[in-house]
Amino acid sequence: MTDMPREPVLRTESISKSFGALKASNNVSLTLYPGEIHALIGPNGAGKSTLIKQISGGLTPDAGRIEVLGQDVTALDTVARARLGLGRTFQISSLAMEFTVLQNAVLGALGARGNAFSFFRKVMKDAELLARAEEALKRVGLWQDAGKRTADLSHGQRRQLEVAVALTLKPRLFLMDEPMAGLGASGSKALTGFLDELRQEAPILLVEHDMDAVFALADRISVLVYGEVIATGTADEIRQDPQVRQAYLGDEEEA
Ligand SMILES: Nc1ncnc2c1ncn2[C@@H]1O[C@H](COP(=O)(O)OP(=O)(O)OP(=O)(O)O)[C@@H](O)[C@H]1O
Ligand SMILES: [Mg+2]
Repeated sequence: MTDMPREPVLRTESISKSFGALKASNNVSLTLYPGEIHALIGPNGAGKSTLIKQISGGLTPDAGRIEVLGQDVTALDTVARARLGLGRTFQISSLAMEFTVLQNAVLGALGARGNAFSFFRKVMKDAELLARAEEALKRVGLWQDAGKRTADLSHGQRRQLEVAVALTLKPRLFLMDEPMAGLGASGSKALTGFLDELRQEAPILLVEHDMDAVFALADRISVLVYGEVIATGTADEIRQDPQVRQAYLGDEEEA
């Protein structure tokens, strides 16, 4: 990314969240700019998912402020934030395994999974929802599997489906929590290629342990340790940061 536009699509300002005595988020300030992949890395339990949940609206920060596309969303719930264009994939799969690929995508397009079930047969005939689902499935390369049971997909295909479900809402930005988890080398490579293209249309705040993917994709990287951002910078800056190497990357390379 050469010239960085001035207005971020996402900004957190001094987000803090404690669970009892544990500071899971400690004054976290970060930004996401148009066209950018900003990776958030850090050891297990550092508070990455907790931060993502606060940005998406599932968890309320104790202090701080969250802005999406210039709007203060701190008091808005998950549905309202999704309507503003905040798309999300989860660390733990949120797919309905006994449903077909198409059904999951249509429910995603409906954007109201929780209470959709009583109208399910009607929903599956809604032309606009079907069109959105089809477009999203085609984009991730799953359209030929639309009729398959989700449980019968490979792990990698399920990850692709999760991205497709998020795409149905045409997000303006993405939060992704470990999309590469459990993917083999070829699966990670395919998803890496896809995210590389996706950033142009929707920038991504990417939580990921797969360092090959992170260093290949990220325009900027922030390192979270014990709830605190200890460094933000380009891949090179982060690789060379002594504090980061000691707290995190050094361990990985020795392992
Ligand atoms: N609802 C909760 N109640 C109490 N403690 C929690 C809760 N959610 C998370 N924690 C704790 O907060 C800390 C941060 O957890 P979090 O899941 O955000 O870490 P993470 O960086 O996503 O880790 P991983 O890389 O393993 O996914 C951990 O110590 C975790 O046990
Ligand atoms: Mg996590």
